[in-house]
Amino acid sequence: MPTNIVGMTFKPFPLLSTIIMMATSTLSLADVIDNGLRNRLEFFGVTKYELLPVDNSPEAVAKVELGRRLFIDPNLSGNKNISCMNCHHPMLGTSDGLPLSQTEDGKGVLRRNSPGLFNIGDKFNVNMFWDARVNYHPGNKIFTTPEPSLNGANPKSVEITSVMKSALAAQAIFPLVNVEEMKGRPGDNEIANAKDNLEAWDLIIKRITTKSDPGKYVTLFNRAYPETVSEKKINIGHAGEAMAAFMAVQFQSNTSPFHRYVAGDNSAMSAQEKRGLSVFINRGNCIACHQGSLLGNNTFLTSVGVPALGARPFVADRGRGEINKEFHRDYFFKTPSLINVALTAPYMHNGAFKTLREVINHYNNVEKSLNDFDITPRKSEFKVDVEVLNSQAQKDDIFYSIQANFLKRGLGLTPAELDDLEAFLTGALTDPKWKPMPKPQGRNLK
Ligand code: HEC
Ligand code: HEC
Repeated sequence: MPTNIVGMTFKPFPLLSTIIMMATSTLSLADVIDNGLRNRLEFFGVTKYELLPVDNSPEAVAKVELGRRLFIDPNLSGNKNISCMNCHHPMLGTSDGLPLSQTEDGKGVLRRNSPGLFNIGDKFNVNMFWDARVNYHPGNKIFTTPEPSLNGANPKSVEITSVMKSALAAQAIFPLVNVEEMKGRPGDNEIANAKDNLEAWDLIIKRITTKSDPGKYVTLFNRAYPETVSEKKINIGHAGEAMAAFMAVQFQSNTSPFHRYVAGDNSAMSAQEKRGLSVFINRGNCIACHQGSLLGNNTFLTSVGVPALGARPFVADRGRGEINKEFHRDYFFKTPSLINVALTAPYMHNGAFKTLREVINHYNNVEKSLNDFDITPRKSEFKVDVEVLNSQAQKDDIFYSIQANFLKRGLGLTPAELDDLEAFLTGALTDPKWKPMPKPQGRNLK
């Protein structure tokens, strides 16, 4: 039996189908292994990944172009010093290469790691941010966000919510009003002086649509949203929806060896990558959480016991536990997609791990990883002094937030299995289309 060729322990369902296939055809051993892997993948919702349908209507084309301009335009930031692209750069895996992103003034750090944006426009991505604090329910068209006037069945700011069609669109308008990400501090500029988010958003639209603007934004807004011509009513929802359209189209990826393998090309992945996939599915049980064609279930939040670190006063980050007083979900974060994960180092919500090897070593023995975690050798990567939650009680708190017992016990993967898993994560999951170009230096990537 081929059971251990790729280190697999077949579960009953694929075993049965494997036997049937062996009995009824002249499949080679390699085919049998591939069929077994595919059956398991299908079971976890991993199927051929299709790109979004192309929309060539003039409105859709204008929307993407508008979104592209907004995404790279520092004029959207209060102090005109930073754009979305500074922290989500295509040459840095749509992220910024930093453990914790830098503040708009370049002097401090944010609380979290900038996530990559690959396939961010996927229709299943109804949650945004590591703690899912922006959510959209496509069925009843309800937003849940940090801005109350956008939320619920009868939002106060209906002129904004009626334009936005996804969590991604709603997400895109929040970095603009975050003091440290893009807005700047009161006293710095007119947007930072606004009395609330709604006024700040209005001022941003006013700034970029004034006639003197060389970007000719008004024309683009009118083209993308013909209704804004007659009503002369452009609002931040139009900007968010356009940036969402741009991100959705621009950051798609479905030509990694893994995606080609899932689509039916058995030769797309090497033998070692296939063994690594088998570890991912079976011995590592990674797929229990990293499900679906993007290997990350956007709706599943949980804890994997990541060491907590940050700059004072934000050393502790309880993730979802900080939203709506959901204390039973302390240290829960969203399960990220792993497509192109090799391009988005450092890892986890706070950049605690520098390499994929460090990530898988962590999973292999979470207790040891938490206890031994030492940020000292990496302090120079941060703009400011960062600290780690280090008391035994704090570490225990994090450890016991883990729900998956197999993670608490430790996986016990062998060095060879760790090598294979790493080969799968780096080799098979990287889309050649997105392989990094030489890394630009410094943060001003405008
Ligand atoms: C200063 C760096 C910085 C800037 C500027 C910035 N981001 Fe981000 N972005 C981050 C960080 C950090 C997070 C994670 C924050 C969190 O989860 O709490 C994030 C999260 C996101 C997410 C959520 C992804 C996910 O999987 O949940 C999207 C989408 C995104 N940013 C798009 C944008 C857009 C659009 C802009 C411009 C309007 C922008 N970002 C500006 C750093 C930045
Ligand atoms: C219990 C659910 C669960 C299991 C099992 C699991 N993960 Fe994760 N994974 C997550 C969550 C949640 C995060 C984000 C955690 C955080 O930032 O605190 C994550 C983050 C990651 C990241 C970082 C991605 C990034 O962009 O920063 C990698 C890589 C990863 N997991 C790989 C794996 C591998 C390999 C395995 C199997 C050995 C595995 N995961 C098992 C839930 C899980």
